[in-house]
Amino acid sequence: MTKNIISIYNLSKEYTSNNNSVVILKDISFKLYQGDIVSIVGPSGSGKSTFLNILGLLDSSFKGQYDFLDKNIKYTSNDQKNIIRNNSIGFVHQFFHLIPELNVLENVTLPNLIQCNKVADSVKKAKSILTNFDLQDKILSKPHNLSGGEQQRVAIARALINKPSIIIADEMTGNLDEKISDSIFNFFLEQVRINNQSLIYVTHNNHYAKQANMKYQILNQKLKQI
Ligand SMILES: Nc1ncnc2c1ncn2[C@@H]1O[C@H](COP(=O)(O)OP(=O)(O)OP(=O)(O)O)[C@@H](O)[C@H]1O
Ligand SMILES: [Mg+2]
Repeated sequence: MTKNIISIYNLSKEYTSNNNSVVILKDISFKLYQGDIVSIVGPSGSGKSTFLNILGLLDSSFKGQYDFLDKNIKYTSNDQKNIIRNNSIGFVHQFFHLIPELNVLENVTLPNLIQCNKVADSVKKAKSILTNFDLQDKILSKPHNLSGGEQQRVAIARALINKPSIIIADEMTGNLDEKISDSIFNFFLEQVRINNQSLIYVTHNNHYAKQANMKYQILNQKLKQI
């Protein structure tokens, strides 16, 4: 039987600022199994990043139920959530979130070191992934010396290093030019399929959205399969 990774029941999310509540997501239910490749499209401001942050255990202030690998995350401590995130979730943020003090190699190696692997082994893995992303000449550079597209590739490499069960990617090709974008996207999808990982990615690019096995849209507070 295929392993269930994510089950979400009647999830709602609102933001409150200046005593004003705005509902972003309403009564969303969603299931994801190992090996599923899911794309999400939707207009700017519709709540795509909001949804991904919840899926990635980065935001727990929502109504409804969210089970990750059969654990109800409402009853999961922050420490446990950190462990789940490090071991099982690779997150590619819309705005990268690389650690500015660390160079490229260190940024990519870090999640693997947190798992208590040997430094030499982690460095070897990181170098191999970075070479696949054509970043072998940049491993000693700090993020602020990289182009947007290069930072994006580092962020993708960092999300892949621990071979997580699920990768959550927010506009992973948004900052790449078309040629690099195609090659990174294809490489990324190939890796995910070879490793039987699950992938959820947000994109504004219809051509990329279509390559998923399931396509969803967030519109008017709802998540709808399209
Ligand atoms: N921390 C916050 N406090 C209040 N409102 C927020 C907060 N974060 C996001 N929002 C609002 O929630 C809505 C959804 O934002 P979100 O970032 O999820 O959109 P998005 O679909 O990812 O858009 P884009 O395609 O531009 O990245 C927006 O109207 C945004 O202004
Ligand atoms: Mg967004």
